[in-house]
Amino acid sequence: MTMFISTISLFTLFSAIYGTAATNLHTFSSDSYNQPYRTAYHFQPPKNWINGPLRYGGLYHLFYQYNPKGAVWGNIVWAHSVSKDLVNWTPLDPAIFPSQPSDINGCWSGSATVLPGNKPAILYTGINPLNQQVQNMAKPKNLSDPFLREWVKSTKNPLMAPTSANEINSSSFRDPSTAWLGQDGHWRVLVGSKRRSRGMALLYRSKDFSDWVQAKHPLHSTLGSGMWECPDFFPVLKNGQLGVDTSVNDDYVRHVLKVSLDDKKHDYYMIGSYNGARDRFIPDKGFEEFVLRYDYGKYYASKTFFDDGEKRRVLLGWVNESSSVADDIKKGWSGIHTIPRAIWLHKSGKQLVQWPVEEIKKLREKPVNLSPQTLKGGKFLQINGVTATQADVEISFEVNKLIEAEVLDNWTDPKILCSQKGSSIKSELGPFGLLVFASEGLQEFTSVFFRIFKYQNKNLVLLCSDQSRSSLNKNNDLTTYGAFVDVEPLHEQLSLRTLTDHSVVESFGGEGRACITARVYPTLAINDKAQLYAFNNGTADVNITRLNAWSMKKAQIN
Ligand SMILES: *[C@@H]1O[C@H](CO)[C@@H](O)[C@H](O)[C@H]1NC(C)=O
Ligand SMILES: *[C@@H]1O[C@H](CO)[C@@H](O)[C@H](O)[C@H]1NC(C)=O
Ligand SMILES: *[C@@H]1O[C@H](CO)[C@@H](O)[C@H](O)[C@H]1NC(C)=O
Ligand SMILES: *[C@@H]1O[C@H](CO)[C@@H](O)[C@H](O)[C@H]1NC(C)=O
Ligand SMILES: *[C@@H]1O[C@H](CO)[C@@H](O)[C@H](O)[C@H]1NC(C)=O
Ligand SMILES: *[C@@H]1O[C@H](CO)[C@@H](O)[C@H](O)[C@H]1NC(C)=O
Repeated sequence: MTMFISTISLFTLFSAIYGTAATNLHTFSSDSYNQPYRTAYHFQPPKNWINGPLRYGGLYHLFYQYNPKGAVWGNIVWAHSVSKDLVNWTPLDPAIFPSQPSDINGCWSGSATVLPGNKPAILYTGINPLNQQVQNMAKPKNLSDPFLREWVKSTKNPLMAPTSANEINSSSFRDPSTAWLGQDGHWRVLVGSKRRSRGMALLYRSKDFSDWVQAKHPLHSTLGSGMWECPDFFPVLKNGQLGVDTSVNDDYVRHVLKVSLDDKKHDYYMIGSYNGARDRFIPDKGFEEFVLRYDYGKYYASKTFFDDGEKRRVLLGWVNESSSVADDIKKGWSGIHTIPRAIWLHKSGKQLVQWPVEEIKKLREKPVNLSPQTLKGGKFLQINGVTATQADVEISFEVNKLIEAEVLDNWTDPKILCSQKGSSIKSELGPFGLLVFASEGLQEFTSVFFRIFKYQNKNLVLLCSDQSRSSLNKNNDLTTYGAFVDVEPLHEQLSLRTLTDHSVVESFGGEGRACITARVYPTLAINDKAQLYAFNNGTADVNITRLNAWSMKKAQIN
């Protein structure tokens, strides 16, 4: 049911212990031929159900919701892995598990906050003996341990609880955010909730991070949006890609409120301003409803953290399986994390931009660079020399400026537009893009492609990820995903970067202005049988202005 995430950081040395922990690593040895869908560089635990992401210091700590007993949801504890580079991860013992009345029925999602003096603290949701959701705190036992392996719970837990006075629904009160400091020097934190169908981010304040008092008003709420899970609230610079600390609130920033909508199972965000004096979030005009998403494919329960070492804000999200529960149990695991993404405000101010962290490039090997060329209508260009099941592909297209795009009469949900048109229905400008996890005779493939429409005299660029023909096994969720990309194709090239990883297709259109993550389970296009193509199934020619592809090495992911 609920989701979660978090993380922490510390600046201390870690090499000695890093070595020992690494010896635990290979207890789960997966023969890639028997486990064709197990990811090679997208984070996942050795087995079982997971979700959630992290935060930084000299070491990245990733906590995630984990069921130690099975590949389905249940018995939730906070599992813990650490990394020097956001790419290679070393597993540690669970950080938080049920041990006191305020969490005896489960340790659900929460967030870490680094208090002054570089002292991390975790706020998390516990399930008490009455099955009520309450908020608890834990702090590291030994700040000299760079791995923060042991956590001590506050004896005052729970610190926030539903009462008859505060009218909080005890089944809808969870996922405390990272806290921030107001100008008055007091901490603020959000807890996801709802009142009837009104979703909201309840606000609590504290002088000492221990005694929390509920504010009269939520930070923000919207009618009809249902339960808000995993609220995340952070500033982004108006200009530039650098991240800033969660407590910053000045003329140089805008604020982002992200929530995971339980009813829709998607992560939505709003951009707006934060009135620190009144503790209210005011979304920008035109964005009062939840329209913007981090990812238009499978993606939920994400969290950001400010990486103070690299001065960036990093986003991690959880992606569930598209296979049946029976298949999940058979393969013994379910759920992965996306590649951590740096996140910043687009110069238009109207959306965020996301891009895989630079560190992921160190997994690239065997580069294949194709020279710029024209891709005629109906042409499929095989990209040889890369390990198609485990690749990073960057391609850019240029379209003929004289050709008129197909006219779209009525605005249509991009996801529906993508599934109606797929990659078979030809227009002049599109579909063109990449075919990934393609089998030799194209019985199986996943197509990630653009189509260009003319809508109200403007060009409208659609990015699709079509899973409908990804597998001969029709027991999977084969939903097609789509998003509009805010790119003007007459002035800009259309760029697409796609990361493939056995059962993951993670795509970034328009240099990170639209992201779509999909899960696929081909039966033929597995291991060395998978092929990769650039294609143009439209009628007009398009030019490939750039095509760089790499095979990706295996990362250490537990
Ligand atoms: C704290 O951690 C450090 C580094 O791992 C270790 O040397 C020290 O013995 C620990 N202290 C306690 C009280 O466990
Ligand atoms: C409290 O939340 C639960 C879970 O969504 C819901 O089933 C129940 O109706 C809510 N109760 C009230 C009084 O709103
Ligand atoms: C997980 O995947 C299933 C099937 O693909 C989907 O119906 C469900 O909503 C997903 N859950 C979340 C939280 O994304
Ligand atoms: C593709 O490139 C060629 C050579 O530079 C150019 O003549 C042609 O107009 C371009 N076509 C498109 C579709 O941009
Ligand atoms: C567009 O929408 C209008 C109003 O809903 C409808 O009357 C019209 O038939 C639609 N046009 C097309 C081409 O679907
Ligand atoms: C390309 O279009 C043709 C005909 O419209 C269709 O049969 C074929 O499946 C399409 N290819 C892909 C990869 O979608």
